[in-house]
Amino acid sequence: MRPIVLSGFMATGKSTVGPLVAARLGIPFVDTDALLAEAAGMPVGELFAKEGEGRFRERETSLVLPMLDDPSPRVIGFGGGTVTIQSVRHKALERATVVTLTASAETIVARVPSLPGRPNLLTASPLQRAQDLLALRRDVYGECHVRVSTEGRTPDEIAERVLAAASLDTLAMPLGMRTYDVELADGDPSRLTAAVEELAPSSLLVVTDTNVQAARGAWLEAALRGLKTPSPPRVIAIAPGEQSKTLATVSRIWDEALAGGVDRDAVVLAFGGGVVGDLAGFAASTLLRGVRCVQIATSLLAMVDSSVGGKTAFDHAAGKNLIGAFFQPSRVLVDFEHLTTLPARQRAAGLAEVVKIALVRDTALLALLERDADAIRAGDRAAIRPVVRAAIEAKIRVVRDDERETGARALLNLGHTVGHALEAHAGYATLLHGEAVAVGTVIELAATERLGLTPAGTSSRAKAIFERLDLPTEATTAQLSAAWPFVLSDKKRASTTLKLPVVTGAGAGAVERLEIEALRRAVIG
Ligand code: GLY
Repeated sequence: MRPIVLSGFMATGKSTVGPLVAARLGIPFVDTDALLAEAAGMPVGELFAKEGEGRFRERETSLVLPMLDDPSPRVIGFGGGTVTIQSVRHKALERATVVTLTASAETIVARVPSLPGRPNLLTASPLQRAQDLLALRRDVYGECHVRVSTEGRTPDEIAERVLAAASLDTLAMPLGMRTYDVELADGDPSRLTAAVEELAPSSLLVVTDTNVQAARGAWLEAALRGLKTPSPPRVIAIAPGEQSKTLATVSRIWDEALAGGVDRDAVVLAFGGGVVGDLAGFAASTLLRGVRCVQIATSLLAMVDSSVGGKTAFDHAAGKNLIGAFFQPSRVLVDFEHLTTLPARQRAAGLAEVVKIALVRDTALLALLERDADAIRAGDRAAIRPVVRAAIEAKIRVVRDDERETGARALLNLGHTVGHALEAHAGYATLLHGEAVAVGTVIELAATERLGLTPAGTSSRAKAIFERLDLPTEATTAQLSAAWPFVLSDKKRASTTLKLPVVTGAGAGAVERLEIEALRRAVIG
């Protein structure tokens, strides 16, 4: 079990609940404020008042960052403002289960016994000050794995909720109050039941495809059985494959939702792979200007890439994903059991996105892929789980820092400029998206090597991994020439240049603006 961090405003019960949780688990409790006080030889209130907030946060940073490097199970009670330090907050989310305890400003002021020990509330109106600070910190407290209200609950009840959260394997996408969990499970439909219950939707619209419905329908039925929604879920099963990723299919989802009397409290469940997730997410983003969406990834590609990060779209005759929206889901559920029925070709296609993210962002993941490629290709779940987890973690770091792709998120498009062109040229009929990404990655890497931007040998290293994973890596000059016009409608194009993700070292990349003609010569010759 990873460490548990209890966060939240002062007087939300961190130092009462923390020892209770620790005792139930038989692990230690540490309180960062107590450690700071001990080191400074004075109470933290006095230290804060004496040195000011800036110096106090520096002390907290030097204490807490190294603490989070220690993976041993502990409950760590943070100070009320510790999570205002971004580096601490992000690291805590990566290394621990972070639970924010919440209470209203009125409750907090009533709970604080003496103001002199709480310099942050020591104003003419402590209530106003608490309200202001809560509003200022709303987003940073929102960035957690779970929020637990302490209003009307006993410490034991709160501890129960913390324990339940800590028993799950969840990765948090920190986006302020839009933060959501990517939960990893193993054959447990009840996790979807719990997620839906938490959202308390007025109605549910399930979007899936006929293949997923046939292979995974029983899992979905088990999850939905017993759910108490005012009306039974409506289900749309579209034809599988990229050919369905059209405005006509989006329209069909809109029609079904509107016929079912959708309202703002409805939830769309995307139950499938990348195509289903992108379409259902886009429909959710536009229905009534946005209803909540839960992504249940059933393909490996959806698990590691498309279900996480909020990109939604459909294809246009001019190219793939040309119309869409950034719209974050309310939750993502990755149940590894879905991989048991996923055809090997689809599994390999998803792995292409794992290789891609490793090439630009995660050298340790690249090494893991090289070490375990054979077991991964064979579908060994014990080998697949850590690479899926690491790929999601890497993607979370990218999206967290550049949600709307104004910078580094474009690195995730490695292989997609050439890959999308090949897919679009073939009418989405012969290559799966992941296969096109594998081919596109090798071709783009070879081109940027020729342009002197990528270290020599990178494309052959990538090619070797893709080949071990049973992925295609080549396209003929004739295919590339015929597909090239689709590069010109790439979203990343501006006049005669194009922004291209470039691998600059093992597990590192940069987005470079290249002349399209120079790129064409490097790709096609
Ligand atoms: N699939 C690339 C991204 O989410 O940015």
